[in-house]
Amino acid sequence: MGFFTHDIKTMDDLFVHTLRDIYYAENQITKALPTMISKASDAQLKAGFEKHLQETKGQIDRLEQVFKLHGVEIGGVACPAIDGIIAEADDVAGEVGDNAVLDAALIAAAQAVEHYEISRYGTLVAWAKQLGRNDCASLLLKNLDEEKATDAKLTTLAEGRLNRRAA
Ligand SMILES: [Fe+2]
Ligand SMILES: [Fe+2]
Repeated sequence: MGFFTHDIKTMDDLFVHTLRDIYYAENQITKALPTMISKASDAQLKAGFEKHLQETKGQIDRLEQVFKLHGVEIGGVACPAIDGIIAEADDVAGEVGDNAVLDAALIAAAQAVEHYEISRYGTLVAWAKQLGRNDCASLLLKNLDEEKATDAKLTTLAEGRLNRRAA
């Protein structure tokens, strides 16, 4: 599988590989979010997913700027981690009948996605700085901040009425 078969020799190679990983992940997330929007029954949750879908499209634009600034071709590389998180979300959501419980399952799945993204962007920001690419780091930091804000909003929703309703 991908990681060790790729020709990664330098920090720069590793940075570009990880950039391609998150670029692939963001594109998969834009495909998964419309399903989550249609399955969510709580209005705030639905609106939150819709907002994050728009943000995610902006994040993809920023990643494309990072590729350009760094002088490499725009493109993704398969990321089995995000595929697994999304597949598990589909499985769990498919099995839940009760609307409030389904919303709780969707929030949990979305937070797994956000945490994956936070981990990747945290690493990418640090590596961009290490490579002297503060221009790339500041764009990646914007994505990181949006993921953190989304995660925090999901926590607020989960700790509020959603989980109480489902209990
Ligand atoms: Fe994202
Ligand atoms: Fe996200």
